[in-house]
This record gives sequence, C-alpha cells and structure tokens, in this order.
Amino acid sequence: MHLAHIYLEQFRCYTRQELELPPAGIRLAGSNASGKTSFVEAIQLLSMMKSARASVERELINWESNAEFGLPPFARIQGWAEGAVDVNSIEIILTADANRPNHTKKQIKLDGQPTRSIDAVGRLKTVLFEPEDMDLVLGSPSVRRRYLDVAISTLDSTYLRILSQYNKILEQRNSLLKSFRDQDRSTRSARSGELDYWDSELINRAAYIVAARLRFLDQARDPLARSFQALLGEEHELRVDYQLATRLDESGSERDVDVHDFTGLQRQISQRLQHEIENRRAEEFSRGVTAVGPHRDDLMFLLDGRDIESFGSRGQQRLAVVSVKLAEVDVIQQVSGQTAVLLLDDVLSELDERRQQRLLELVGALGGQVVVTATDARLIQVEQLEQLPLYHVDSGQINAV
Ligand SMILES: Nc1ncnc2c1ncn2[C@@H]1O[C@H](COP(=O)(O)OP(=O)(O)OP(=O)(O)O)[C@@H](O)[C@H]1O
Ligand SMILES: [Mg+2]
Repeated sequence: MHLAHIYLEQFRCYTRQELELPPAGIRLAGSNASGKTSFVEAIQLLSMMKSARASVERELINWESNAEFGLPPFARIQGWAEGAVDVNSIEIILTADANRPNHTKKQIKLDGQPTRSIDAVGRLKTVLFEPEDMDLVLGSPSVRRRYLDVAISTLDSTYLRILSQYNKILEQRNSLLKSFRDQDRSTRSARSGELDYWDSELINRAAYIVAARLRFLDQARDPLARSFQALLGEEHELRVDYQLATRLDESGSERDVDVHDFTGLQRQISQRLQHEIENRRAEEFSRGVTAVGPHRDDLMFLLDGRDIESFGSRGQQRLAVVSVKLAEVDVIQQVSGQTAVLLLDDVLSELDERRQQRLLELVGALGGQVVVTATDARLIQVEQLEQLPLYHVDSGQINAV
C-alpha cells in the first residue's frame, strides 16, 4: 500500500500544495520552519484522523485562511492511496467555528462518502519516526499508553471502540466514587449495587484492552530484539515488558501468559481485576478514583534486563525507540499483510553515521513507501535513498530539486 497523491489546502503553512508520491516514497529537505513536519503531519492525519502534535485542531488550519473573505477559516487534506486498500480517496475537511474559538468541525470522507472518524482510522497505515519519540522512554507512563493505543487502533478498530467506551465508563465510575466519598457507610452500602454495575462494565472493557496490548507486545517481541541488534551492531537484548498496575498471577509475571488464547487471556485478566477491585475498595472510596485498570498500566524498556531509562546511554535509548517503531511495522505486516508508509521526520541527524546507514538499510529492506525529511540535505543524499525523488520545501512550498 502506498500514498500516491496528496493535496493540501490551507493546512498549516501550506496554502495549496499538490504532490505525486511514487511507491518508494520521497525525500524532503528544508530549513527549520519550512514545512517538513507539517507535511508529514498531514500524512499521519490521513492515517489516524487526528494529529499527533496539535493540541486543538484549529492549529491545523492556516492562520490566514479566508481572512480576506470574512468566511470561516478551513483546511482540506486529501490523499489517494493505491495497492491492497479498500479505499482510494481519504479526505478531511476542518472548518473553524466562527462563534466558538478553538472549536473546529471535522468532516471525513472515504471515496467521497461522509464517514465517522472511527471507521476511517487505519485505512492508510503509517508509522511515524520523530525526535519526540524519545519520550517513549523518558516521558510519563501516559505517553507509553498512548503509543500502544495508537499502534493497536491502526490494526484493530474494535480496540479503538472499546477504548473510547472504557474512558467514558471510567469517568462515570470516578464521579460515582467521588460522590460516595462524602457519604456515610450505610448510604454507601445501600448504593453499592450502582458501583457493582460500573465495575463489571469497566472490567469487561479493561480485559479486552489489556489482552490486546499483551498480544501486540508479544507480536512485537522478536522483531524488536532483531531490529535493536541490527541497529546497534552488538549483542544486546532489548525487551519491552508490560507492567500491569496489578499482577495477573501473583507468583509469576504477565510474560508467562498465553496470548494465543485471546478469550482465555481476557478471562484471566477479568478475574484478576475483579479480585483487585474488591481488594482496593477502601482506597478507591478514600481517593475517589479508580485504582486499577489499563489507564494505570505502563511499559518498561529493558536492555539486558535493566531499565533502559535509568541505565541506558542516550544513544541506546534512541535506538530502542527506533527499534520499537521498526517492530511496529513488522506487526502491521504480520497482522494486516500490508506494509505501512514510514514517515521519518528529522530522525537521521540524531544518530551517528553508522546507525544512520543501518537504519536506512533496515528501512530499505522493509520495502514500503518512505517519506524522509532532513534540514541538512546531505543526510538524505545517500546511496540507500537514491531512488527517491528529492524535493525542497521552503515556506510551505514544495519543489523538485
Ligand atoms: N496554522 C498555521 N498556519 C500557518 N503557519 C503555521 C501554522 N501552524 C504552524 N505554522 C508554521 O509553519 C511553519 C512550518 O512548521 P513545521 O513544523 O512544518 O517546520 P519544519 O520544517 O518541520 O521545521 P523544523 O526543522 O524546525 O522542525 C512554521 O513557521 C510554523 O510556525
Ligand atoms: Mg520539524
């Protein structure tokens, strides 16, 4: 699968930009603030229907859009995919709400038909590499949970649906716990049936989410170790462990679970959560928040069994996150049979020359479409990328070199 053509209108710094992309991809060079990340962001948006970097969607619309006509500002992003896809055109139209600042209406069309966001996610599969990926190791647990959620949602629309239900249930359950906080014991026990209801709703979704995360990590395990060794060029083992806020099995760890029996795994997680939720009722009452569940879980990166956040060098941490992304491409291939579009935004300058070469060799071996950007054109004027046309971007305008 590849993105064959893209059209941007009033998107970020691009007023109007049209570009053909060959199946192998393109190289994009440009100085700081020229529009490299924005271009990559547009492709990622066509994949996930949501920008990974914008906090509000209004940011995506060109500042000057429609200013002189007195019409609501808008942006349009359209992409045409080719090869092994069930949809050809993906279109996103963002319109600012004139009456409410920061409110933006988003319309999505697949082949011209209005579609819900949840049904459009993952039609175009992309994997984004960017310098901010370091947060996967160095950032808070929520960064790692979000990474897993995005990666799995691309492959499994049920996951996305269940996750959104889970978040709503969590909110309801937390507000119920808060309301219980101020009540005496007898009122609480009179209303305990309400909590039982939310417990089972929560556990039901939580079990699917955790099981899907464990399955994803299991699928990623071998490719992860392989990519890391290939990048580093040394014999070191990289592993990513899922850290449950509660252990599945008190004696062992969740690494021993059988992810191939998905239903059995969900049942095992449900039982564990049920037990844990009962154990921590008093704590939940006093704090007024849900203490267990996938919103509390985390990932741990282990290099030869040691936490890479504390013990790894900067370079090892960087290679670890790059390996995670390469492993993600592998999992997408295993599960969907499709090769994701790789978006490498400004990542080469972060690696030493030997690792740059190795990364480009690994990327080349995957055989998918690549969009690679750099501020220093020399970094992408290398043998491994020779077959990709080179473009130059300046103030939101892309031109062939
Ligand atoms: N909504 C918007 N309307 C117009 N311009 C915008 C909008 N949002 C961001 N910009 C501008 O677009 C320009 C390009 O930003 P972008 O992040 O794509 O640059 P870049 O080439 O990736 O730069 P760097 O090398 O620094 O990462 C910046 O000047 C930024 O301020
Ligand atoms: Mg950038």
